[in-house]
Parts: sequence; C-alpha cells; structure tokens
Amino acid sequence: IKITQSDTSINVTQTEEVEVEVSSLISPVSMMGDSFIIAIDFGTTYSGYSFSLTPRGKDIDPYLKCWGKEIGKETPKTPTCILFDEHGEFMKFGYEAQMAYVEMRGENARKHLYFECFKMSLYGTKLNRDMKIKAANGKSMKALKVFTEALRYLKEDALETIAANTAGRKFSASDFTWVLTVPAIWHPSAKQFMREAATQAGIVTKGTENKLVIALEPEAASVWCKKLPAEGFITQNHGGDSLEHSPGTQYIVVDCGGGTIDITVHEVLDGGALKELHKASGNDLGGQTVDKKFKEFLREIFCHGVWDEYESNYPSEVQRMMYEFTVLKQEDEDVQIICPFNLGSLAQRRQEIEKFFETVQGASWNDGSIKISKQKMRSFFDESLNGISLREILNKDLSVEFILLVGGYAESKILRQHIISQFSDQCKVLCPFRPQEAIVKGAVMFGRNPEVVASRKSAFTYGTEINPWFEESRHKAEKKFRCTSGERCLDIFKQLVEIDEDVGWDESREYIFRPVEAYQRSMMFTFFQTERKNPFYVDDWGVEEIGLVTVEMPNTTRGMDRQVKLEIKFGFTEMTATATDMETRSTASVKLNFMTKS
Ligand SMILES: Nc1ncnc2c1ncn2[C@@H]1O[C@H](COP(=O)(O)OP(=O)(O)OP(=O)(O)O)[C@@H](O)[C@H]1O
Ligand SMILES: *[C@@H]1O[C@H](CO)[C@@H](O)[C@H](O)[C@H]1NC(C)=O
Ligand SMILES: [Mg+2]
Repeated sequence: IKITQSDTSINVTQTEEVEVEVSSLISPVSMMGDSFIIAIDFGTTYSGYSFSLTPRGKDIDPYLKCWGKEIGKETPKTPTCILFDEHGEFMKFGYEAQMAYVEMRGENARKHLYFECFKMSLYGTKLNRDMKIKAANGKSMKALKVFTEALRYLKEDALETIAANTAGRKFSASDFTWVLTVPAIWHPSAKQFMREAATQAGIVTKGTENKLVIALEPEAASVWCKKLPAEGFITQNHGGDSLEHSPGTQYIVVDCGGGTIDITVHEVLDGGALKELHKASGNDLGGQTVDKKFKEFLREIFCHGVWDEYESNYPSEVQRMMYEFTVLKQEDEDVQIICPFNLGSLAQRRQEIEKFFETVQGASWNDGSIKISKQKMRSFFDESLNGISLREILNKDLSVEFILLVGGYAESKILRQHIISQFSDQCKVLCPFRPQEAIVKGAVMFGRNPEVVASRKSAFTYGTEINPWFEESRHKAEKKFRCTSGERCLDIFKQLVEIDEDVGWDESREYIFRPVEAYQRSMMFTFFQTERKNPFYVDDWGVEEIGLVTVEMPNTTRGMDRQVKLEIKFGFTEMTATATDMETRSTASVKLNFMTKS
C-alpha cells in the first residue's frame, strides 16, 4: 500500500467508490483536423511520407514522396536504414545509408554504426527509455536516439519537399498536424516510445502534443481502402459501391508489412465511419521472415562455418546479396543469384564448391551462380504464410465479407494466392493497387478525421485501487486495515474498462469516489492495466501499475460527505486521468505511463 503524507496524524489516501460511471461523454468537437497534414509511415523495412495541403472540406488527394531517383529507382518508400559515424553522429538515412554502407570495405564498415530492421526491437516487449540496440558491427546505441534521428531525417525531408512544391514558401513543423503510424499489435509502451522519439525529433514540442496523431497501420489502410471504387483493386473486387457507402459491411484488414502482420476487423457504420469488431491481432512473421529463411538456407549450403566467416568478414557484401534476394523473391519461379567472389573463395578453400550443393535440397551450382528452385523459394514463405491466422476471426459470430490485403508484402503473388486458396470459400480477397501506399495515404486522411474510427476494442482491462468495507468471507485477512469508521480492505481492483469493451474514439468516462476518513486531506488513485478480466486485487498476477495521481481535498468541513470525480480520457495512445475534489475544485492530472522506469 502506497500512502502519501498528509498533515493529519494518520495517513489516509484510500478511496471508496460510491457510484460507478456517472456518465460517459463523447466530446463533440474534434480538436485536430487542420488542413496541413504530414503522415510518416515508419516501417520495419521501408519508410516514407505523404502530405496534403488541401483545405478542409475538400477531398484529400495525398501527395506521396518518391524515393531513389539518384540510383535510378522510383519507390514510394526508402529503406529504413540509418548510418552513424564512429562517434555516433547521424550521417545518412534510406537508400543513401544503404548504398554508403554496401560500398564500405572491411575496417570502414566495422567502424560505422549501421542499423536496419530496428523497428522490430519495439515489438513484443515492455519498453523503457534507456533500451539499447545493436548496430550491424555489434556496437550499441540508445534505441531512442536511433528512432529520433530517423524521424528527424524524415521530418526535415518532408518540410524540404513541401517547400520545393510550394514555390519556396517556408513551412515549419508546427504548421502541420503530424501523423505517425505504428502497428496496432504493439504494446502501448512501444506506441508511447514512438511518440517520445517524435517529440525529441522536433516533430511536436511541449504544449502542442495534440498535433501529433498516432495512427494504427491497418486502420490507416482501412481508411484509404474504404473510399476506393471497385476498379481500385487488383485480384477480386467488391463489385459495387465503395465500402464506405455500404454500411453494415464487415471486413478484415491484413497489413502485410516487412516486420509485422497486423490485423484489424472493421464494420462500416452509417455515414461511412468504422467500428472495430475485434481487437488487433497478428505477429512478427512479416515479409522479412522470407529473407531470413533464405539466409538460413545459405548457411545450410555453406556449411562448416563458411557462411558465418563470410558474414563476419564481409557484412556489406551480405547486405548486397540480401538486397538482390528481395528482388528475386518477387517472382514465383526458379531464380539464380550470383555467388559473390569472396564467398566463392572462402568456400573453395574448404572444398570444391559443387560439393556444398550435394547435401542440400532445392539449390544447385550453376557456373558461378546459386540456382534456387521455385519449390524451395516457396518454402521460404511457409512459416510467414502459415502465421496469417484468420480462422479465429472468421469463426466468430461475425459476417465478414472481405479480406483486404495491404502493405508491401501484399504485392507478393505467392502471399495473395495463399490467402485466396485458404479463405476464398468464406470471403472475397481484395488488394488495392499499390498496396504498400495504402497505409501512409490513409494516415493522411486519418490525421484530418481521427473520428473516422468511431470505436475500438480495448486491448486491456484498466482499473484503479479502492478500499471497500472489509468482509471476512470475501477478503484475504492480510488485506484488512483499520480506520476511524471501521475495517476496510486494501488493494481491491475496481474495473474501469474491460478488455474487449468498445471505447469511443475520444471517449471520457467519469466516476465518483469519496474519502474513507472525515479528516482526509488528499486522495490518491493508482491505475493498473492487465490482459485479464476483472482481477480481484491490484497485486494479482498480470496486473501492472501504469500511473498514479493525488488530488488535494483541503476543506474537510463536510467530513465523509465529500466527493472526488475521476475523469478518464481514452485516447488510444494516450490516456489521461484527472481527479477533481468537488468541494474545493482542486484538480490533479496524470498521463498514464506504459513504459517501465528503466
Ligand atoms: N513482390 C513482393 N514479393 C514478396 N515480398 C515483397 C514484395 N514486395 C515487397 N515485399 C516485401 O514487403 C515488405 C515491405 O512491405 P512494407 O513496406 O509494407 O513493410 P514495412 O512497412 O517496412 O514493415 P512493417 O509495416 O512491418 O513495419 C518487405 O519485406 C519486402 O521484401
Ligand atoms: C469549506 O466547506 C464548507 C462547506 O461546504 C464551506 O461552508 C466553507 O466556506 C469552506 N471553507 C473554505 C475555507 O472554503
Ligand atoms: Mg508498414
């Protein structure tokens, strides 16, 4: 039990609940919705941004920055790779970082700090601000710095692109509403971590935090796709009016990214807004799983430690080989990849190179190239594809009509064929043209109208601690404590929101509590989060503390007959709790914190 000091002889800050949920109010006006919007899709493998300067009231047609012109490419995103010098100073991001690193030789490559796929370090763990991640050369750096520098680069580049397209008119970050996309399945601490990185990158400043909107990747894509006409889709199409004009339609959105497969389920409401029907699900078996399998296969071919030696001596060559593979895997046929000279010579030193291929299936040596069969190529996709589990959702009491595939990995014919063959008996499978762009373009639209996702399923149960009368039959003896008015029970979990419950996009809820002592001069609320339903005590397993607020209640004239109002605002990446002493109107607020204290 945590007790704060008060100037009475006994320190009481416990609360007792009176009535539950006095009201549930949804604020009618959106505080966001400026006309200048920049959305950043910060991906595991590729990142990009899109923006709109269209005045409010007109339809948004997001402008998408194209990348790679300097190397003869034109892609909607650039590799999420970042290069720092040996002193940890930022050097390059994207294709430029990738090219610079690939061209570095031995010693030089080992000196620099090169990071790729670092977004995955935020997946599946509860984070703290001091977490470090490892560069390709094994040296580590604070993750927050790596993310901050990457976001700073994207921010600067976006502002430059806009200036170049608006006859040089100068804009600063504060002229925009910024949208940053994150996987829906991320732990709240990871979403908070991205918000902090964006703040450090100067995207928003203290006091203007509400100009940064965090968008969930599959949701953003859903917002984009619901507007598309039937012709907007490759594969099958919905054969009618756009989804947003078909209220009642239910569909699954699968964001097939490089790192994560991120799934959400939506129903179109009257008027075209969306309602989440099932809380976010998915896993970390995205497109790069295929690349990993390929690398594992190379290690299997070049056995006796040959591959490992190659990888540690020529990291940038491995980089280049992997890069070639990402192009080859796009075809559903036999492929050949040139064996780099250094790999060949390392292998030759061990034994005749053909010998390496005698013990593996699906690969052969072909005059300087490694030939990989179509069958083998498909097998690299197996683990990832089998991980896309939609059965559980489809078996629910819903009437899902469509599966919408988005994200760069949805470009893969092998992936699309797999989903069609697995699920086309139950649903039509849709994939928009340029599925990789759906996320960032939808994010721009979401930035203007966050209320477009009208409600979501809470991913957690939230609660606070209360102290009801002690009851022998219900409560553990060690939880008993005595106060002036009688015996009370410590640590009782009072549920505020239950996991899977619908929560409005900008919903606030109010609860009333009253003191347990007549002379009580402050009241403390501690908040908890859990994936369980209705735990009994706040110190039960699986219950985590996420914040605390203490409100002063200095006028004790009315003794026990006083009330404190607790208001909780459920932004889906930021939750704020405000306690107000109704006697004196003194208030205190806290932003709930999902990260661990380092
Ligand atoms: N034709 C294709 N065949 C197979 N894989 C592809 C194809 N096109 C793109 N990919 C893969 O899709 C992934 C990139 O997709 P996307 O840009 O949506 O991911 P991301 O946003 O970087 O990742 P995440 O959303 O998980 O953070 C890469 O793994 C890439 O290799
Ligand atoms: C304290 O509360 C009582 C009862 O509501 C009120 O009459 C009194 O004026 C208050 N005292 C102060 C100092 O505000
Ligand atoms: Mg993505």
